[in-house]
Amino acid sequence: MRMYDLIEKKKLGNTLSQEEIDWMIAGYTDGTIPDYQMSAFLMAVCFQGMNTQEITAMTLAMAHSGEMADLSAIHGVKVDKHSTGGVGDKTTLIAAPMVAACGVPMAKMSGRGLGFTGGTVDKLESIPGYRTALPREEFFRIVNEIGISLIGQSGELAVADKKIYALRDVTATVDSLPLIASSIMSKKIAAGADAILLDVKTGSGAFMKTQQDATALAKTMVDIGEQAGRKTVALITNMDVPLGDTAGNAIEVQEAIHTLMGKGPQDLTELCVHLAGNMLFLAGKGKIEECLELAQKSITEGTAYQKFYQMVERQGGDVSYLEDPSKFPTAPEYAVLAQEDGFIVSMQTEEIGAVAAMLGAGREKKEDTIDPAAGIRFLKKTGDSVCKGEPIAILYTHCPHVVQDASERYQTAVTLSQQKQAPIPLILARVTADNISTTTMEERKL
Ligand code: URA
Repeated sequence: MRMYDLIEKKKLGNTLSQEEIDWMIAGYTDGTIPDYQMSAFLMAVCFQGMNTQEITAMTLAMAHSGEMADLSAIHGVKVDKHSTGGVGDKTTLIAAPMVAACGVPMAKMSGRGLGFTGGTVDKLESIPGYRTALPREEFFRIVNEIGISLIGQSGELAVADKKIYALRDVTATVDSLPLIASSIMSKKIAAGADAILLDVKTGSGAFMKTQQDATALAKTMVDIGEQAGRKTVALITNMDVPLGDTAGNAIEVQEAIHTLMGKGPQDLTELCVHLAGNMLFLAGKGKIEECLELAQKSITEGTAYQKFYQMVERQGGDVSYLEDPSKFPTAPEYAVLAQEDGFIVSMQTEEIGAVAAMLGAGREKKEDTIDPAAGIRFLKKTGDSVCKGEPIAILYTHCPHVVQDASERYQTAVTLSQQKQAPIPLILARVTADNISTTTMEERKL
C-alpha cells in the first residue's frame, strides 16, 4: 500500500476500505507516514468527507493505537460523559457526583483546557492538595469504595488522535465533521466505559455554530458509539451564552460547590440534572423521567454534595475549601460597565472565553500556565435588562495591563437592544441511535 494512492483516492472523493484506514493510522502512529502526507490526506477529508463506515474505521483504528483502558475491575455499568467544550462548563464537577450518589460508578478521566474552553482537571487542581494523577490501582480502588474518582487523562490513550489533532491544529483541518467525530469518539472508546453521554454544544461559544451542524455531529458520534458496542446518547445544548454565572477555575469550582448544595444558577442546575439523568438512564436505572427525578433528588437531598466531599477527601484535597468556598483565592476585581440602557440580546461566547483566557484563566498553547484565581463573574446575561453605567460583569486578574483591552473586548461581545428577545432553550434536542427528539417542556422544568 502507498500513502500517495490513499491521498489520491480521497482527493477524488472515493471510499477507503477498513484495511487501508488501519494501515494509514498504524503507519502515521509509528512514524513511517510523514506529517506532510497525513496533512494532505486530512485536507482531502475536509473537502470530500467520509462515509459512516470510514468514520467508524478511523475511530476504531485511532482508539486501538494506544492503551485501551480496562475498567472491568470496577463493579457495575460504567458510564462516561463528554462535552464538546464551552465557556463556563463545569458540569462534570456536578453531574459526576450526582450520578455516583445514585449508585452508578463514575470512573472519569478528564482533560485540561485549551483555547477558549476550560478543562475539568485545571478546575479540580484549584482545590489545594487534590491529586489528579493517580496510579490505576488506586483509581479503581477509590471508585469501588466510594463510587467516584475524577482524574486526568492518561497520555497513552488514542495516541494516533493526539498526533493527528496536533497536526490538524496547524493545518487548518480542525473543523471537519468526520475528523471531529472520530477524534472525540476514539478517546471515549479507548477510555473503556460501557455507555457514553455526549453534550454537544451549539452556538457562538461552540465548535458547531448551528443546531443543524451540532445535530449532524451528534448523530454521527452516536452511530459510531453504538457500532463500537457502547450505548450512546447525545444532548444538543445551547452555548450561545456562557453556562452559569462564572468562567475561570477556582471561581467555577466555587460555583459547582454552590450548585451541589442546591444554591446554583438555574441554567447550570437544569443542565446538570439532564446530564446526570441521561447517564443514569444509560446505566439502566429506569425510564428517562424517573432518572431525571433521581438526579434532581441527589441535589435536594444533599447526597451529590456528600459524594463530591468524599471524593475530594480521598484524593488529598483540602475539604475546608468545600466547607467554606470563600477560601478559594481571588484576584483583584475590575467591573465592566454597560454602555447604554437596554436588554442584552446576544453574547459572543467564544469572545468571552477569549477574554477569560486573556485574564489568565486559560491557555493559548498547551505549555502555558493558568492562574486559578483569574476569571469572570457574569452579573447580567442574555435576556437581562441593564442601565447605562451598571456593572454587567466582574473581571478577576493579576494582570492589570490587560484590563482595559479585556473590558473593551467584553463590552463589544455583548449586544444591547431596546427590544427583549425570546430566550433560547438550554436543551435543544436529544439524539439516540434511532431518534432525534426536542426536549419536552415537562422534562425541561425538572
Ligand atoms: N475535541 C476533540 O477531542 N477533537 C476534535 O477534533 C475537536 C474537539
